[in-house]
Amino acid sequence: MAKNITSHHFQISRQNREEKNGHRSFLVWFTGLSGSGKSTIANALELALNEKNIKTYILDGDNVRGGLNKDLGFAPKDRSENIRRIAEVSNLMIDAGLVVLSAFVSPYKKDREAIRTVVKDANFVEIFVNTSLQECERRDVKGLYKKARAGEIKNMTGVSAPYEAPDQPDVEVKTETETIEQAVNKIMKAIANKLKLQNV
Ligand code: ADX
Repeated sequence: MAKNITSHHFQISRQNREEKNGHRSFLVWFTGLSGSGKSTIANALELALNEKNIKTYILDGDNVRGGLNKDLGFAPKDRSENIRRIAEVSNLMIDAGLVVLSAFVSPYKKDREAIRTVVKDANFVEIFVNTSLQECERRDVKGLYKKARAGEIKNMTGVSAPYEAPDQPDVEVKTETETIEQAVNKIMKAIANKLKLQNV
């Protein structure tokens, strides 16, 4: 807690909100290379969750970097700050009773571990969208890999900056061999118990 700041205790709690919503709140974190399919899978998962009347919100790198994090670039320090802020925003949204879907390259293990510390282990589900660099470059949806190879973009993850893959993600999706539907089913299965309110 910062100096001279006292946390105020409000009467409506996370538990109250979860009970009203009829499901628990937590964070589903997607990590993987740019163009790996994180946002596409998050979108499909959100549709499936909404079918079940589950309250959700998506935080996405390309979107958040246009607003809250528009002062940040792609140097390691900036990426850490990007992820730190998103962890805090995700934590607020968990408190608001939502299932938060966050899709960020988040290439550094230590930054992803820091998210786990902020939101607490029990509220964190890590999804590794494991698409090879070769395939991401082949897709090159945003044309960024081409620019990175031409030296027009620095610190491009996979090309001129590292990507540290998770060792033990909760779910691993291989988009080169699995369909979006299969990926969503797999994630749904992994979070089914987490969605359930306790003691009901
Ligand atoms: S993170 O590394 O800090 O987690 P984040 O997910 O917010 O990255 O943003 C990644 C998106 O920014 C990519 O999908 C891509 O569209 C864009 N981008 C622009 N420059 C880079 C770069 N040097 N490395 C990775 N992504 C980049």
